[in-house]
Amino acid sequence: MTAAESEADRAALIEAARAAREQAYAPYSRFHVGAALRFADGAIVTACNVENASYGLSLCAETNAVARAMGEGRRGGLLEVAISAGSEPAAPCGRCRQVLHELASLGGTDPLVMSAGDAEVREHRLSELLPGAFGPNDLGL
Ligand code: THU
Repeated sequence: MTAAESEADRAALIEAARAAREQAYAPYSRFHVGAALRFADGAIVTACNVENASYGLSLCAETNAVARAMGEGRRGGLLEVAISAGSEPAAPCGRCRQVLHELASLGGTDPLVMSAGDAEVREHRLSELLPGAFGPNDLGL
């Protein structure tokens, strides 16, 4: 894959996260989030945040995307994550970092996490966002 293709892939993943954000159900916070996961086979899996009148039951976009991907049978191969929360970049919450780590560690990858705003995209490896993570290895898996 050339650098140009990779850049195009990343731009497409960010667009997928922005599109997923359109479906956000966030009447309480009004903070709409979309997430898109890209896998080694080229597949993209997206999701949005889904809130609940019992506020604490609200589900984040990244966690929903991981649940969707694992529900389709995916167990690793996670290469890139894009997050869209509006005009400014938004970091993934701690719980989402842990949930992403579970799927990533099953395939031994350290995905690039892109928090996309309109003018700025913040990029970090998941291992930077969650150093020394607890995961399946700690339980002997
Ligand atoms: N949210 C996400 O979807 N992902 C995150 O990583 C941070 C927060 C959602 C949860 C809630 O619906 C809204 O954003 C405000 O916290």
